[in-house]
Amino acid sequence: MSQKNDIDFNEENVAKTIEGLNGLLADLQMYYQNMRGFHWNIRGEQFFELHTKFEELYNAAALKIDEVAERILTLGGTPLHTFSDYISNSSIEPKKDYSDAAPIMENIHASHILLLNKMRALISIAGEGDDEGTQDLIAPMISEIEKTNWMFGAWLKR
Ligand SMILES: [Fe+2]
Repeated sequence: MSQKNDIDFNEENVAKTIEGLNGLLADLQMYYQNMRGFHWNIRGEQFFELHTKFEELYNAAALKIDEVAERILTLGGTPLHTFSDYISNSSIEPKKDYSDAAPIMENIHASHILLLNKMRALISIAGEGDDEGTQDLIAPMISEIEKTNWMFGAWLKR
């Protein structure tokens, strides 16, 4: 008999979901650190507005990071927790020395699309394992980022 975790999921069924959640966790951590860098390094006339906006984004990411990590634990997995693991598992590149508004906003817009696609794929993987808890966790994150990225698109005049 295969081993069960605290919530009576078959570990084989949730293995792919745990892997997907860990990928998302790595992306969110890289995104978080990029937002920190943008918050610190942004320069120009829009400094006050964007400095505050980037803080809002990293705070929102921090909440997601903890939720995702604790979902992995709930499913019986181990969340990635070192910088080296985040670097090797993230699809989001670290961004160094960005200080102009336009490339920063383009980068954030692209990162949001990457996160959205990662989350949508995860919803489908979780569905295959009848894991509604993970779907319920991720679904509101998707609509939140979709709304945020509509605003970033408006800023970029797309
Ligand atoms: Fe700050």
